[in-house]
Amino acid sequence: MPAVPLRHSEVPAAEGLAVIPLSIHIGARIDGVDLKRPLSPEQREAIHAALLRWKVLFFHDQHLDHAQQVALGRQFGELTIGHPVFGYVEGHPEVYSVGRDRFNSRFSAQRLVRPWSGWHTDVTAAVNPPAAAILRGVDIPPYGGDTQWTNLVAAYQGLSPTLQAFVDSLRGEHRFTPPEGSVARQGFSDPLAATPLVSEHPLVRVHPLTGEKALFVSPAFLKRIVGLSLRESEQLLALLFEQAIRPEYTVRFKWQAGDVAFWDNRATAHLPPEDIYASDFARQLYRVTLVGEVPVGPDGRQSTAIEGRPVLAHTRE
Ligand SMILES: [Fe+2]
Repeated sequence: MPAVPLRHSEVPAAEGLAVIPLSIHIGARIDGVDLKRPLSPEQREAIHAALLRWKVLFFHDQHLDHAQQVALGRQFGELTIGHPVFGYVEGHPEVYSVGRDRFNSRFSAQRLVRPWSGWHTDVTAAVNPPAAAILRGVDIPPYGGDTQWTNLVAAYQGLSPTLQAFVDSLRGEHRFTPPEGSVARQGFSDPLAATPLVSEHPLVRVHPLTGEKALFVSPAFLKRIVGLSLRESEQLLALLFEQAIRPEYTVRFKWQAGDVAFWDNRATAHLPPEDIYASDFARQLYRVTLVGEVPVGPDGRQSTAIEGRPVLAHTRE
């Protein structure tokens, strides 16, 4: 296991680069770096170490274009296709459009809303969810439209040792389906049917770089716990989802145009905003994701694909 900086004071320094924590458990702002330019090895190492420590990093005033966002991502690993089900931006196969109305255009408005609705870790229906994601803000509302992230390592550590030991032994089924209570609109049931994604993941994931255990629950995708009755599964998932999104484990980011968020998708979940639907404000962001490993549980067992293929690197001809 490589040594990684789990304390803020151990994050290595790079010239001119400042790591400014935003809460006790999660989130740091990075100042003093221009992401449009290739990073020096020291800058790259400092950003990667800060990512492992703080789980999500924010960079202001970067104003990247699609090609610059792709180039930034490639400095940290291979990139996936924009989205395995919903495709990519024309001419930019690694870039996924996070448009304001993407959910409402795909699924009926009626849905069952629970306290954890909308929270998710990206693409956990795949056997190898992305390792990390980089999201950039282009059209940003003057107010509203904040994104929240939660630290799933802190959430795991907040459980009692007895419950930790129990969830260490469990696995869950993650599916890509319409939000609970809604159905796919015309034209969107086809991609869902054509690209079925179902995987079984450990409920506790051992991070491949830090060795930390994360409560690997992704409320939008995790449908049931394997081996439990439906009622047992429903009740335990409610408890774990509630734990995962406790406010003290979260950070809330107010976007400005040109900002970049970079998160470790192995140790976090996030919540897209719902409030913007009560406004007419435009909101447009773009995401790239880094190819991820197949998760491993505390018992050493890997995740397994039930339906669908791994999300591999996009290769340009
Ligand atoms: Fe997401």
